[in-house]
Amino acid sequence: MEIIEVRGGRTLAGSIAPPAAKNSVLPLLAATLLCGEPCRLHGVPRLTDVDTSLAILTAAGARAARCGRDIVTRPVTLLSGDIPPRLAGAMRSSVFYLAPLLVRAGQVRLPVPGGCRLGPRPVDIHLDGLAAMGARVELAADAVILRRSGRLHGADFTLRLPSVGATETLLMAASCAEGTTVLRGAACEPEVEDLAGFLTACGARITGAGTPVIVIQGRAGGLDGCSYTPLPDRITATTYAAAVAMAGGDITIRRCCPATFSTFLDFLRATGCDVQTGVSSVRIRRDRRVPLQGGQELFAAAWPGFATDAAPLAAAVLLTAQGPSRIYDGLFQNRFACAAGFRALGAQAQDNGRELTIQGDARLTGTVVTAPDLRGGAALVIAALAAEGKTCILDEGHIRRGYQALPDELASLGAGCRMA
Ligand code: EPU
Repeated sequence: MEIIEVRGGRTLAGSIAPPAAKNSVLPLLAATLLCGEPCRLHGVPRLTDVDTSLAILTAAGARAARCGRDIVTRPVTLLSGDIPPRLAGAMRSSVFYLAPLLVRAGQVRLPVPGGCRLGPRPVDIHLDGLAAMGARVELAADAVILRRSGRLHGADFTLRLPSVGATETLLMAASCAEGTTVLRGAACEPEVEDLAGFLTACGARITGAGTPVIVIQGRAGGLDGCSYTPLPDRITATTYAAAVAMAGGDITIRRCCPATFSTFLDFLRATGCDVQTGVSSVRIRRDRRVPLQGGQELFAAAWPGFATDAAPLAAAVLLTAQGPSRIYDGLFQNRFACAAGFRALGAQAQDNGRELTIQGDARLTGTVVTAPDLRGGAALVIAALAAEGKTCILDEGHIRRGYQALPDELASLGAGCRMA
C-alpha cells in the first residue's frame, strides 16, 4: 500500500513538462515485436505498466531494456505466445500483445487482462477484427487463444464502436498481413495516430490514421526498426492543469501538445481560469480568491470529445466551484468510483453509474481516502490540494501505473504533497 500525503491550501507556481504518453508507449512497446531491427523509444516514463510491458516482452523471449530515459528493443527469432497470467492480470494493456505475438509466434494465449475497474471491458472487437484477418479464436474459461495457419491477410473491417485498443491491435496486425486492410469506424485518438507514426517509421504503409477510415498495405515480411519519440502525455498535462485550477496559482506546462487536451483547456476557461496556449506550451492562471464557475455540463466521449480519463479530474475541479455541475461518461459505466473519496473530503457528489452530479460550493477538509483506480486516484490528489489540513490517499498502486512521481511533480510546483 502506498500513501500520498497532501497538505492543502498552497498555490502553485513554476513550469513542468509531461513525459511521453503512457497510452502511446504501451502499444508501441508491443509493436516493437513486429520489427526485425532494433527500436529505441525516447523519454519513456518509469511507470509500473511500462515495467509490466517489459516483463511481458521478456517472457515472450524478446530483448527489451531501459537505456537511460529510453527503452531499446532488439529483434529475436524465437518467441513464445504464452502471456503469464500474473502479467496479463496486472494491466489492460496486456491485450496489445495479442496481435504481435499472433504474427510472430503463430499463436497467442492471453489470460484475462487486468486494469482499472471502469465497468465491463470486453475484447470482442479485437477478436472479431483478428478473425476477419484469418485468426482462429478459441475462448477458454480463463484465457483467449488465437492461432493462425498461414499468414494473416488483409480485410475490410468495420469496428462496431471506435475502440482505441482494438484500432491499435488491428493496425499492428494489418501492418504485417498479406494484402490491404481497411478499418472503418476506427478510433481517432492522438495515440492511434502516434502508433501509426511509429509503424510508418518502421516501414509500414498506413494512410488515414486519425480519421475513422484507415487503410493499411501490409508488409508480410515484417517491419524494420526506428528511433521514435512518443507523443507527450495529454492526461498527465491535464492533471497538472487541474492541479493549478484547484489550488490556484500560475503554472506553465512545457513540451506538451495543447491541441491534444484542448477540450479540458476550454472547460477550464469556462470555469474562469486564464488559459493561454502556445505551440507547445500552456500557461494557466487562477486567482484562488475568486471562486470557479460551476454550472458545467460535460459529456465524455471518444476523440475529439471530452476525454474520459479527464472526467474525474474535471470533477475534482468542480467540487468547490460555484453552483452544481454534471458529468456524463459515454464510454465507461463506472468512471466515478472516486465520488466516495470526494464525499469523505466534504463534497456533495453523487455517482449514478455513468453520471456524476456535483453540488458545488464545497468546503473540503482533509481526511483518509482510497484511490479506486488510476484517474480516480489522481482526482483525489487534486481535490486534496484545496482541502483544509492533511489528506492521506491510500493507493494499492493504481496511481503509479500512470504517473511516474505525481506527488514529487506537484511538490515541484509548490504543492504540499509527498509520498508518506
Ligand atoms: N469495448 C468493447 N469491446 C472491445 C473494446 C472496447 O466493447 O473489444 C468498449 C469498452 O468496454 C469501452 C469502450 O469500448 O466501453 C471504449 O474502450 P476502448 O477500447 O476505446 O478503451 P481502451 O483501449 O481499453 C484506452 C486507454 C484508456 C482510455 C480509453 C478511452 C490505453 C492503454 N488505455 O483504453 O486509458 O480511457 O482508451 O479513451 O490506451 C487510462 O489511461 O487510465 C485509461 C483507462
